[in-house]
Order: sequence, then C-alpha cells, then structure tokens
Amino acid sequence: MHQPRVATRDFLEEPAAQFPPNHLLATGVFRAELTLIKLQNIVKNFNRAPLLKGISLTVQEGERVSLIGPGGCGKSTVLKILLGLVPPDEGEALLFSTDMCHSDEDKRQSVLKRVGMAFQQGGLFDFMTVRENLLFAMEHMTDKDGEEMEYDLKRLLAGVKLPKTEGMFPHELSGGMKRRVGIARALCTDPDIAIFDEPTAGLDPVTSTIILNMIDALGGKGGKKTMLVASSNVEIAIRFADRIVVINEGLVVADGPWRQLLVSGPPWVQHFLSTRLIGLDIEYAHELHLPPSFIRKNWSAHSVR
Ligand SMILES: Nc1ncnc2c1ncn2[C@@H]1O[C@H](COP(=O)(O)OP(=O)(O)OP(=O)(O)O)[C@@H](O)[C@H]1O
Ligand SMILES: [Mg+2]
Repeated sequence: MHQPRVATRDFLEEPAAQFPPNHLLATGVFRAELTLIKLQNIVKNFNRAPLLKGISLTVQEGERVSLIGPGGCGKSTVLKILLGLVPPDEGEALLFSTDMCHSDEDKRQSVLKRVGMAFQQGGLFDFMTVRENLLFAMEHMTDKDGEEMEYDLKRLLAGVKLPKTEGMFPHELSGGMKRRVGIARALCTDPDIAIFDEPTAGLDPVTSTIILNMIDALGGKGGKKTMLVASSNVEIAIRFADRIVVINEGLVVADGPWRQLLVSGPPWVQHFLSTRLIGLDIEYAHELHLPPSFIRKNWSAHSVR
C-alpha cells in the first residue's frame, strides 16, 4: 500500500520561493500540488512533415486526464516523447521533473520504474510468456517478494479476464488479449503514474467496459492514482476522465472538463465531441450524464427526463 507522498524538493519543479515553508508541510496542513507531467512546446516532424507543432500539457499528482484527437493526430507520439522513447525536435518533456530526453540512462530508468505504460500494441516481450512478462516487470521495478508477485500476477490476470493465459506467448494471443495483458503488466508494478494508449481499441463493448472498470478500480487502490489515457474514442475518453485534452493538427485545441467543452468549447471541438455522441441511445446519454442542454438540443423533447 502506498503511503501519501511527502513533497520533496527534487520532486517538485516549482522554484524554492513558491515552496511552502517546512513547518506547514510538516503539519500536513499544506499539501503542495505536484506536477508529475509537463510537456512544454513540443514540436515533432516526421520526414519533414510537421506532426506536433507546439504541444503543452501539465498533469498534477492524482489527476486523471484523457488525451483525445482524431486517428493519427499524434497521441501515441506524445506519450513516447513523454517517456523519452522518441526525441522531440523542440520543447521539453518532464516526467517527475526529469527531462526524459536529456537525462542519463540511470535517471531515466529510475523515473520509468514509477510509470506503468500500456502500449497500443501491448508492448509485450515476444520471447516471454505472459507470466514471464509480468514477473519480469515486477522483479525489475518493484521490491515485491515471490509471494506478492504471485498474488498480483493472478489478481491482475483475473482482473483483465485472462486467468488462463499465464503460459501463453504473445503470438498465441489476439490483439485485444495482448492489450489486456499489457494493461495488467502496466499495473503490476503499482506505478505512481499509469498511462494507457488506446486501452479498449478493437475490443467489444462488454470487454471495453470491463477494462475501464478495472482501470477505475485499480486506479483507486491506495489513493488517487495519476492516470493518462490516450484514445480517439470520445466515449471511452469521457467515461475515463472529466478532464480532456484535445489535440488536432499538431496543437492542443482544448483542455478542460468535457461537459463544458461539449456545450461551449471551440466550434471544432464541439463538433468533434458531439458527432460521436449524438448517435447514442437516449438512456445511455443520461447514464453518461451528458449536459441536459446538449440532450435537449440533440434528442427529441419527449425522451428528455
Ligand atoms: N517513427 C515514426 N516514423 C515516421 N512516422 C511516424 C513515426 N511514428 C509515428 N509516425 C507518424 O506520425 C503520425 C501520428 O502517429 P501516432 O501513432 O502518434 O498517432 P495517433 O494519434 O496515436 O494515432 P491512432 O489514433 O491511430 O493511435 C502518423 O502519421 C504516423 O505514421
Ligand atoms: Mg495511437
């Protein structure tokens, strides 16, 4: 079980002048807001074609954020830059205040130990079984003993509804199964930040709901976990988080509570969100707590509660 983190200087990016005095921190009266993720003016071109034209994004400890945008807008690239897997052409990517593209390997690895990443394609080691993939992550990134690892292995595979896959290799799994194992692997290290790239793409609605509920439940363990989901599926994004960050044509075009953006965001954002929601069943629209004004406008009056 994680203890509430005590703010320390190296963990913070704020200059000393803004740092709360020690006597307040010691009493626990003042709890500093910690910036865990900070992307600043990220520019990335592939083959001279501009993809990201200046992406800025900040995520505080305990926040949940959905990163959304049309297919191919660069969501996965943003996540890879954040983890230091792809270098940006310009800008800075800070994870736990560490510049992931310009730090030495030791520092980068120590930061990555605190992050659980579920890649869009699963990102599993092909030459290891499912069991070995999860054990490898726990052995290298946690202090868990054998018994704890065994317990978490079983708990998480049961959680993603794949209890019988322990001995299977990734090539024996479907795309959706690989993604679910990838989610279990991302969470088995009890990371401070969990990042999921398209966690439900290609999965049927029932399995998608199971996955989202599982991420919800596991994210709540030991307090509020910081979580980031990238998805081009608006419904998944808004079910996952109140705060959405919308990317289009290389820029963040909106960042805020989705209900607000749906009714009063920039026109393109309203259009992007609403075209994917208007087709929903009215009952489901109510379940999602879509704004009443939006329901009134887009569903016939007699079906509005
Ligand atoms: N290593 C690379 N080399 C060249 N082009 C790349 C590379 N990685 C990504 N791209 C291109 O960048 C664009 C954005 O890719 P990315 O995977 O980041 O988008 P995305 O928003 O995650 O898409 P999706 O919604 O399909 O997951 C695509 O056109 C892709 O072909
Ligand atoms: Mg992607």
